[in-house]
Amino acid sequence: MLRVWVASWPLVRWEEIVPEFLGIDPSELSMADAHRLLLHCVAPRPIAFTSTLSPEGVPNLAPFSYFMAGGANPPSVAISPLTDRAGGPKDTLRNIRATGEYVINVVTYSMRERMNTASAEWPYGISEWEQAGFTPAPSVKVRPHRVLESPFAIECRLYQIVSHGEGPLSGNYVIGEVVYFHVSREVMPEGVIDVRRVDYIARMGGDWYARASREALFEMPRPPRVEKDAPAG
Ligand SMILES: Cc1cc2nc3c(=O)[nH]c(=O)nc-3n(C[C@H](O)[C@H](O)[C@H](O)COP(=O)(O)O)c2cc1C
Repeated sequence: MLRVWVASWPLVRWEEIVPEFLGIDPSELSMADAHRLLLHCVAPRPIAFTSTLSPEGVPNLAPFSYFMAGGANPPSVAISPLTDRAGGPKDTLRNIRATGEYVINVVTYSMRERMNTASAEWPYGISEWEQAGFTPAPSVKVRPHRVLESPFAIECRLYQIVSHGEGPLSGNYVIGEVVYFHVSREVMPEGVIDVRRVDYIARMGGDWYARASREALFEMPRPPRVEKDAPAG
């Protein structure tokens, strides 16, 4: 490790430089390069295959790997459909804003190519369901259909949209409350989910994906709980 004196007003400090690492300030990157780098850093990401309806009732289906679960009381999830390259909202964002309802479907290896077909920029009003060949199944608490081929579907109601930035590739964190789960009996044979039966896929940077198949999985129990309030002695 090198220790160098950095004097750039208003910061004057010692900085530790590790020659094996490249330091990158995102303010010096193009937005496309920052996006590419982020996709490699935050990986592998699960894929939220998101089903929505336009206000006129036209179905839409698109994958989003900017996707996370964020709480359990109540259960909540977030996706981020970026503002598109022309500076407008993607159809999914437009539909969720207008209707407040959507279904997130988990993507498995056998769904991968059809999911990719659905990600193409089909014109507003053209149904990715038909283009990609997925089967719509009715939801319970929201109007958009779930994907029958998916082992897990999560019905969501919009809680809040937090937009960060402006213009192309800016983030739109769509936070949803989970109002209903669908779980295939295939992956939950005896009332417990068996992850070895799911065959999840996840997105990484570039065109890379990961497959969480049997050989890639391992178990590691959590360390024993330490009672924080245990009396001294
Ligand atoms: C695996 C995968 C993950 C994707 N993740 C995102 C994402 O998190 N955010 C995003 O804005 N676009 C993402 N995309 C691109 C969108 O799916 C694509 O822009 C799509 O056309 C949006 O559809 P819509 O306009 O019907 O909403 C992803 C594409 C693929 C194939």
